Amino acid sequence: MDTAKLILKGHEYEFPLIEGSEHELAIDFTKLRAQTGAISFDPGYGNTGSCMSEITYIDGEKGILRYRGYPIEQLAERSSFVEVCYLLVNNKLPTAEELASFQQKLTYHTLLHEDMKKFFESYPPSAHPMAIMSATAISLSAYYPELLDPEIIDLNIVRLLAKFKTIAAYAYKRSIGQAYVYPRNDLGYTEDFLHMMFAVPTEDYVVPEVLTRALDLLLILHADHEQNCSTSTVRMVGSSQANMFASVAAGVSALWGPLHGGANQAVIEMLQMIHKDGGDYQKYMNMAKDKDSGFRLMGFGHRVYKNFDPRAQILKKAADEVLSELGINDPLLEIAKNLEAIALADSYFVERKLYPNVDFYSGIIYRAMGIPTDMFTVMFALGRLPGWIAQWKEMRNDAATRINRPRQIYTGATVRDYVPVKER
Ligand code: ACO
Repeated sequence: MDTAKLILKGHEYEFPLIEGSEHELAIDFTKLRAQTGAISFDPGYGNTGSCMSEITYIDGEKGILRYRGYPIEQLAERSSFVEVCYLLVNNKLPTAEELASFQQKLTYHTLLHEDMKKFFESYPPSAHPMAIMSATAISLSAYYPELLDPEIIDLNIVRLLAKFKTIAAYAYKRSIGQAYVYPRNDLGYTEDFLHMMFAVPTEDYVVPEVLTRALDLLLILHADHEQNCSTSTVRMVGSSQANMFASVAAGVSALWGPLHGGANQAVIEMLQMIHKDGGDYQKYMNMAKDKDSGFRLMGFGHRVYKNFDPRAQILKKAADEVLSELGINDPLLEIAKNLEAIALADSYFVERKLYPNVDFYSGIIYRAMGIPTDMFTVMFALGRLPGWIAQWKEMRNDAATRINRPRQIYTGATVRDYVPVKER
């Protein structure tokens, strides 16, 4: 009962099963090639478990998401982003003292080396902030070389968490040509970030509490999502024992794509297009269903969630609350809700189990907060950072980690003789 049998070309092979703490089942194929000579073929890795992890549990059928066992709904309602960072990285909820000390460390490491300001100046103002985020994240490894000492690794984790938001805010200031605003030690993590984004040296600026609350919620909801594309990239790069800054910089690049974190920007651009087009939903629904159109309903569908994305449900409610508190009436929210209602009643989307994902409503909240579209994916990266770090740390400490190196099925030319150019 605890093995799987495979019959391959008349021979029978047996493979052990692995069961997770939530009874997820896997066939252990680590010896598949050694025993059978064959490899498993799974493009996109939809059926492949790449590691064992204690960090995040998702049940896509039931719409469950838990960080270290704690339901996302409870964390969203009662926790803070800094506490979630601690939980993900340290595998426990902090005591009041531990939380205060962690918060203090995150506060005292926010400054960037003054020389690093030159990086931002060397980019054209039109540069996408994700390019700057990725490049600056890896540049941190030049300032804080990684030593094998676990204490230094822990310090670098704090440095990265603390400095990433300063980098994000500086990238924004650079893009609009405004003076950088230094971090402030009297502000909490999220409030300080918003202050660096929106304050100007000529006047006092107090971050409205509604903005701090909304962003904290968004960051919590994005904090980890097990082996998604960017996290797998972080683990892939880290598996070669590349340092944490390099691994996370690669994760930032992977996140940028419109099929992953870049979808939040793509959703708003799509909603704006529909709005400009007079709100002709049916036209866009038809395009989304037509494979030749190259158009997809952005913010819809997910590799894992096949019923609902619990983060999208929380955000739909939050979008209503934040917009009403800010007194904003955004026609894009109406368009999004109508599009969702039409899609959920359409057999194409129902049959394929395509539901709104986290990116569908997040952009509307960012927009209401005054965050420009180009920065949406940076917000995602800021939220996902503790997850990347926790996953990198887990991989690094796991004795079973091997360098990630998939195989392939070669379909090119078979052996042939080289012909010199003049004879071709
Ligand atoms: N609009 C229209 N059709 C879709 C969509 C969509 N958004 N998403 C999937 N489909 C269709 C596919 O064409 C395919 O149809 P078929 O079976 O007739 O060929 C079927 O649904 C399955 O889609 P796949 O692309 O095979 O699903 P996969 O798991 O590989 O992709 C993904 C998941 C990338 C999220 C996809 O649904 C998508 O492109 N969504 C839009 C982009 C998006 O919102 N990305 C954010 C994801 S969440 C995140 O990263 C934070």
